[in-house]
Amino acid sequence: MKLSTKIENAIVDCFHHEMENWYSYLTLAQWFDLRPFPGFSAFLHAQALDELQHAQMWYHYLIERGSQATFRDITAPKWTFDTARQVIEKALELEEQTTARIGKLFDLIEDERDHLTGASLSNLLTNQTAEMKTMQGMLDLIDMADGPTGLITVDKEVRGMSAK
Ligand SMILES: [Fe+2]
Repeated sequence: MKLSTKIENAIVDCFHHEMENWYSYLTLAQWFDLRPFPGFSAFLHAQALDELQHAQMWYHYLIERGSQATFRDITAPKWTFDTARQVIEKALELEEQTTARIGKLFDLIEDERDHLTGASLSNLLTNQTAEMKTMQGMLDLIDMADGPTGLITVDKEVRGMSAK
C-alpha cells in the first residue's frame, strides 16, 4: 500500500531534518573539538552519526513503501557559543524540535489512519524521551560543575557516556 502524499511529504521533511541535525551536531561537536574537552566532543560526534542513521532510516522507509526521497539543500547552522552550557542547551533544543516534529507526524498518521507507518515508527518517540533526558542530565552536570576544573571532570563523565 502506497503512502499518502501528506505522509510521504512529512517523511521527506523528517529525512531532511535529520540531515540538518547531522550538520547541527557536527557544529556543536566542533566547539568542543577546538577546546580540551574530548568527552563532550566524542559524545556529540556519536550524536551526529546517529542523526545520519536516522536520515538513512527515513530514506529506506520511503523506498520500502514504494515512494522516493526528495533531496534538498542543507542549511548551514549560524550559531556562536560562549560556553559549554550554551552548546548543550542547543543540543536539547534540537532534540525537543525533533520530538515535536515526530509528534506531528504521529498526528498525521492518526488522521490518515496509516497503521503500517505507525507500527514501523513506534519506537521513535520512546527514543526521543531518552535523548532529551540525556541532554537535560548533561546540563544538570554542567550546572553542578565548579568552574573550568569542574567542567573537565564532567567531560570525563561524558566520555564514559559516549563509550556506551
Ligand atoms: Fe535524529
